[in-house]
Amino acid sequence: MSPSSQRHVFVETFGCQMNKLDSELVAGQLRGLGYRFTDRREIADVILYNTCSVRQQAEDKVHGRVGDAKALKRERPNLVLGVIGCMAERDGAALLEKYPQIDLICGPGELDKIPVLIDNAVRTRQPQTALQGHQARRSSTLAAAADNLEMLDLSRSVSPTDHNGSAYVRITRGCNKFCSYCVVPFTRGPEVHRSPDQILDECRRLADAGVIEVTLLGQTVNHYRFDHGAAVRLAGVEQPQVGPGGAAFRDPDHRLNTGRRITTFADLLHLLHEQVPQIRRLRFVTSYPRDFGDDILQVMARSPRICRYLHVPAQHGSDVVLRRMNRDYTAGAYIEFVDRVRDHLPDAMLASDFIVGFPGETDADFAATCDLLRRCRFKNSFIFKYSPRPGTVAIDKFEDDVPESVKKRRNVELLAIQSQVSQEIADEQVGRRVEVLVEGASPHARKQRRQVELGWDREEEVDSQLSGRTGGDLIVMFQGSEELVGQIVPVRIQSAQPLTLFGEMIAVPATAGG
Ligand code: 5AD
Ligand code: SF4
Repeated sequence: MSPSSQRHVFVETFGCQMNKLDSELVAGQLRGLGYRFTDRREIADVILYNTCSVRQQAEDKVHGRVGDAKALKRERPNLVLGVIGCMAERDGAALLEKYPQIDLICGPGELDKIPVLIDNAVRTRQPQTALQGHQARRSSTLAAAADNLEMLDLSRSVSPTDHNGSAYVRITRGCNKFCSYCVVPFTRGPEVHRSPDQILDECRRLADAGVIEVTLLGQTVNHYRFDHGAAVRLAGVEQPQVGPGGAAFRDPDHRLNTGRRITTFADLLHLLHEQVPQIRRLRFVTSYPRDFGDDILQVMARSPRICRYLHVPAQHGSDVVLRRMNRDYTAGAYIEFVDRVRDHLPDAMLASDFIVGFPGETDADFAATCDLLRRCRFKNSFIFKYSPRPGTVAIDKFEDDVPESVKKRRNVELLAIQSQVSQEIADEQVGRRVEVLVEGASPHARKQRRQVELGWDREEEVDSQLSGRTGGDLIVMFQGSEELVGQIVPVRIQSAQPLTLFGEMIAVPATAGG
């Protein structure tokens, strides 16, 4: 095979924002070694699928891709095929057995090893594996400190040209929650928190490269808590540490009177807001509805650059089902939380996730979910049919007894209710001026451009519709030049669909005008 400087890599990412960030970091690392990137699988020397295990459907897509790659490998035996991410961690050995065309398997905790794995695969033509396995849940501060994955975040290279104004920054990895249906605690291991200094440093570097929106990432982002007194230092630098158990959050101040210096999530938000004012939008996902203290809401209320947007999955509206899901809160407690949010941040937009068809879900349980959704007025919800996952408590303990047809019907019904609520919220925006961070050409304009490339449409027919988001994460489309990508512009909203607002730009900002 050609040296790395001439190898082309194709990466396809499935699943959550955490996976998108992982792919970006892996790509950055490979780019630094001279690899080039392509969006054409047919010419790639290395194909990497960064996978998701949360639902069977996500895994099925990857099975399809890997199956297809067999033919590519037959044509080009030197091609390196890698399956990385959660599915690799969950199912690594079985995947290798089933698909001899796979050269490389790498879990989400070992992504810093990808360049070595590729090199070894090329050299030895033997399948390469890097998985955390049982180590994933060892819970000592030192284990976290010794993990090399931090290097991947730290080595992030940001050039002023390879972003559209927006970037993700990881603050915690893994999850300690063990909701009964979820594979994440198994695939991503225990909660590990990065030190505030490292996070601040990364945010500063992104801001220096022109990033104006940072989204802090964590599976349960509000559980962020860094205990400086317990931190392990290497060369004077505080290393990542394993997160505390739930007890840490029963203390309203989240400080447990240890006498040691603690940085809570509220402290971290305040720190980033004050220290990096060039970041004009600070966001975070995903929050866990319990343990979301008023301290966080208070910091948000007095920090204009923290977006009024919370993604806080409720998952269900029935207490019986929430208990079976091991969510540790009741529907009443969730509503109380939403009321607290509205008190502190009257203009906040909320979004949720729901699972329909969880084992034992009755019509009455489902009706409770519908009520909760209406009551909380989410601007949007991601609605999923329950998918039993190997290795989870739910698959062993509860029979998947809601028929597929019922899951489907409940899914459609809940979507219809959400769509109605979304339309009401969108209608309230009509006539208002909103600030939009421009992300790029709208999907419609992108489609038209592809038609031109294929010779099916004429250049002058291409629409110049742009797409962006408000601070509350509402999607806005309007006409404008692509030079505005990465900038925040004022837009007057003229009409609304459930998930999209349409408007007109009010004035061209000085930097973009002539
Ligand atoms: N089946 C269906 N949906 C699931 N989710 C997580 N695990 C499952 C599962 N086994 C959903 C939850 C979570 C989102 C990322 O995916 O709603 O918030
Ligand atoms: Fe999965 Fe629950 Fe952790 Fe979210 S909080 S990642 S649903 S275990």
